[in-house]
Amino acid sequence: MTSKPTVLVTRKLPHAVEARLERDFVAHLNPDDHSMLPDEMLAKAEGCGGLLITPADKFTPAVIAALPRSVRVLATFSVGHDHIDLQAAKARGLTVTNTPDVLTDATADLAMLLILGAARGAYWGERMIREGRWTSWSPTAPLGFDVSGKTLGIIGMGRIGQALARRARGFDMPVHYFNRRQLPPGHEFGARYHSELADMLPLCDFLSINCASTPETRGMVNAGMIRLLPDGAIIVNSARGDIVDDDDLIAALKSGKLAAAGLDVFRNEPNIDSRFRELDNVFLLPHLGSATPNTRTAMGMRAVDNLEAFFQTGRPRDRLV
Ligand code: 8YV
Repeated sequence: MTSKPTVLVTRKLPHAVEARLERDFVAHLNPDDHSMLPDEMLAKAEGCGGLLITPADKFTPAVIAALPRSVRVLATFSVGHDHIDLQAAKARGLTVTNTPDVLTDATADLAMLLILGAARGAYWGERMIREGRWTSWSPTAPLGFDVSGKTLGIIGMGRIGQALARRARGFDMPVHYFNRRQLPPGHEFGARYHSELADMLPLCDFLSINCASTPETRGMVNAGMIRLLPDGAIIVNSARGDIVDDDDLIAALKSGKLAAAGLDVFRNEPNIDSRFRELDNVFLLPHLGSATPNTRTAMGMRAVDNLEAFFQTGRPRDRLV
C-alpha cells in the first residue's frame, strides 16, 4: 500500500474540499482559518510534500529558500500567482499550480457588478437610504451615469476578459481590448483589438482591468494613461490592485477627470489606502471576485486535483512551473 502524501493547507477551505483532503492525504488543516506568518507556515511545512496555499501567503524568494526540503509542490487556491516568485520556485525545483477556468464566470459577473455599481451610484445610493437621507425623490438629483451603449475597453483579454466582453454585449456596449496578442475571432466576441493601450484609451467610457499582475503591468494604469481616457470615464478593477497607481487614481477621482471607479482589489489588501474610504464616487468590494460557495468549492477541488496528479503522475493539469 502506498502511503498518502502529506500536505499543509494554509487556510480553511470549503467543507467538501477539506473532506476530500482528509480522505486522500495526510492533511494539516487550519480549522480556525488564521493567517499564517511565514515562520509558522515554514514550521508546519516540515515533512510535507505539498502546500495548498492562497494569495494571502507570500512566497518570496526568501520564503521559498527557507522551505523544508520535503516540499515539492505548491498548489495555489487562485488563478492569480503574483504572490509566488515563480523563478525562485523553478530554481528550487518546485512545481507550482493554479486554478484557472473555474472562477471565470463568477469574476466576470463581479466585473459587471463593478461597472454597474460604479456608474449608477450603488454605494452612495445605498448609503443615502441607510443614513436616512432619502427624504424626497427628485427628477434632477442624484444621478449616476449610463452603462448601456457606452464603450468598454478591457485590459487583458484572457478567460475573464473574454467572459466580461460576452456580458457587455448584453448591455449593447461596443468592446475594445488591449492584450499582448490578438485573439482568434472566435474568442474576441466582437471586440476590437488594440496593440497599443494608448490607442484604445481615448475610446473608453469604461476601462476594465482584467490582466495579471506582472512586472510589466504593475503601476501601468497611472496618470499618463488616465489622461488619455475621455473626461468622466469610469475605471473598474477586478484583477489586482497593484496594476493601478493609487495616488494617480485618487487624484483623478478627486479632480473629476474620472467620474467613478469600481474596485474589488487593492494594493496591500486588506490594508487599503484609506483615502478610498473618503470618496463617494468609488464603489468598493473586499476582493469578492470568486466568492460564491460553488466557485470556491470548484477552486479547492481543482487545487486538490493538481496535488493528486502531481503525486500520482508528476503532471498536474494547471502547472505554472
Ligand atoms: C480569489 C483571485 O478571491 O483567483 C484569484 O486570483 O484573486 C480570487 O479568485 C482568491 O484567489 C482567493 O483565494
